[in-house]
Amino acid sequence: MKKEHELNTKEGLLEANRFLVGVVNGIKDTIMVVDTDYKIIGVNESLLRKIGKPMHEIDGRPCYRLLHNLDKPCALNHPCSIRDALRTGEICDVLRTRLIGPNITYTRSIAYPILNDQGKIVRVIQMERDITKWKKVGDQFYNIQKLVSMGKLAAGLAHELNNPMAVILGFVDLLLEKTEQGTQSYDILKTIERQGFNCKRIVENLTSFATFSKITKHSTDVNKSLERVISVIMDILRNEKIVIEKNFAGDLPRAKGNPEHLRQVFTNLITNAVAAMRGGGLLTISTRHNSSENRVEILFMDTGHGIKREYRDEVFDPFFTTREVGEGPGLGLSACFGLVSKYDGDITFETVTEEEDRKKKGTTFTVSLPGDFS
Ligand SMILES: Nc1ncnc2c1ncn2[C@@H]1O[C@H](COP(=O)(O)OP(=O)(O)OP(=O)(O)O)[C@@H](O)[C@H]1O
Ligand SMILES: [Mg+2]
Repeated sequence: MKKEHELNTKEGLLEANRFLVGVVNGIKDTIMVVDTDYKIIGVNESLLRKIGKPMHEIDGRPCYRLLHNLDKPCALNHPCSIRDALRTGEICDVLRTRLIGPNITYTRSIAYPILNDQGKIVRVIQMERDITKWKKVGDQFYNIQKLVSMGKLAAGLAHELNNPMAVILGFVDLLLEKTEQGTQSYDILKTIERQGFNCKRIVENLTSFATFSKITKHSTDVNKSLERVISVIMDILRNEKIVIEKNFAGDLPRAKGNPEHLRQVFTNLITNAVAAMRGGGLLTISTRHNSSENRVEILFMDTGHGIKREYRDEVFDPFFTTREVGEGPGLGLSACFGLVSKYDGDITFETVTEEEDRKKKGTTFTVSLPGDFS
């Protein structure tokens, strides 16, 4: 900032002017100064760039005409910080949303009234910033909060549903033992069983959001846990003509993680692999000990359709799904991620679509968990 005696010379004033112009143009938010008739009396370079017009085409024109092509100031139902600042004499802060095709953008607009010595408004300075990125992060946070509340509700619901589900699945099992394979009744019972397991998985995924931040100290024999999940799902694999190959490491340490949670993670990843291989394929499940980092790694490699490039950033988002309505709410991977994160675990994937390489198509999800020697 310039000291007063330095401003008393012409050179000093020019210097001060250059300094202020530099500051205003250095700000990347758009800045516009208007008089009490909304006429533009100054803008910064960011605003000129945004509207793509030189200063002489803007100077003195009302902002509502230039920016919104209107004959009078914006109506009250349109958020306008300048109008509000002129009416109230206060600093006004509004959020503007704009829909361009399917995309929504958010702009924060703040207007600062400038008063003269008598306290009358003579000008308004308006600053605007595109906050779309931040708004989306905020919205996601809000969605997570919603999920946590929903998870609490679902946890209660799941508790109530567990018993009837267990009874249904138990009786189906009993009837299956008494029914001849290859008959229509047998196929119907198998469908009930499959959908019953699916219900159980979806309810479990919902409840995992309720226990988001709780850490449970447990460890799991991963090979045994996988064997159990595979034995439950074996019939489905056979029906879908999916061959399963197991490459389990013999010297695998126990992994950090509650056995129920890990079973849920493995069930989701296998279910996804099965869904990606309609018409058959090969599912290779491998376990290995990464001794340098003391991690237990579990790989689920399928020969399915792969994940399209445009979906790759979204598959872990809650409610992201490419399935038909009613086939899955899109909570599987987000629940898996939430569950393994509790134990400092991680899930990554590599994928190749048919269009990218017909011969190498498929997806590999890798779960990595800390080994547990305690
Ligand atoms: N192995 C895979 N191969 C191809 N696409 C996959 C695979 N795993 C996940 N996806 C894609 O990721 C999406 C999200 O998976 P996620 O498990 O979170 O939900 P979902 O399977 O659609 O529904 P839900 O698991 O809740 O029943 C899937 O809809 C699918 O498009
Ligand atoms: Mg799934």
